[in-house]
Amino acid sequence: MIFVFNGPNLNMLGLREPEIYGSDTLGDIKDLCAQTAEEHGFDLDFRQSNHEGELVTWIQEAAQKAALKGIVINAAAYTHTSVAIHDALKLVKAPIIEVHISDPKSRESFRHLSYIEPLAASVIAGQGAQGYKMAIEQIAAMVEA
Ligand code: DQA
Repeated sequence: MIFVFNGPNLNMLGLREPEIYGSDTLGDIKDLCAQTAEEHGFDLDFRQSNHEGELVTWIQEAAQKAALKGIVINAAAYTHTSVAIHDALKLVKAPIIEVHISDPKSRESFRHLSYIEPLAASVIAGQGAQGYKMAIEQIAAMVEA
């Protein structure tokens, strides 16, 4: 079982700053993740929330699943602010892959700090929607190794 968690405003992909985030919608990304997970024989749970506490609760629940193989997380703006999401991710024993559609480190300075990065097995940024596919493939490689 792989969880893909998406933070605030990612439900607006396609409409939201397409010059930065591209034209793929979150539905397109969900389809890409479902296809990639299926290729590797993983069940997928793909979610988005605009609420920090809801993301924290979902991470807590995922951390307690015996079948958990990995978490892919694009915490969006909470990446740069959320000690609560950082603390929840500390419960997770399976690999965590941090994904960003854009490359936050080449944008405004307030996007340069990530509270997820210290807990992530890897960070995939600036690869657009393909970054999600790459993240699932990385988890597959870790599980199969
Ligand atoms: C983002 C980058 C964040 O800085 C921003 O707040 C987002 C999206 C990305 O996927 O590029 O909402 O996580």
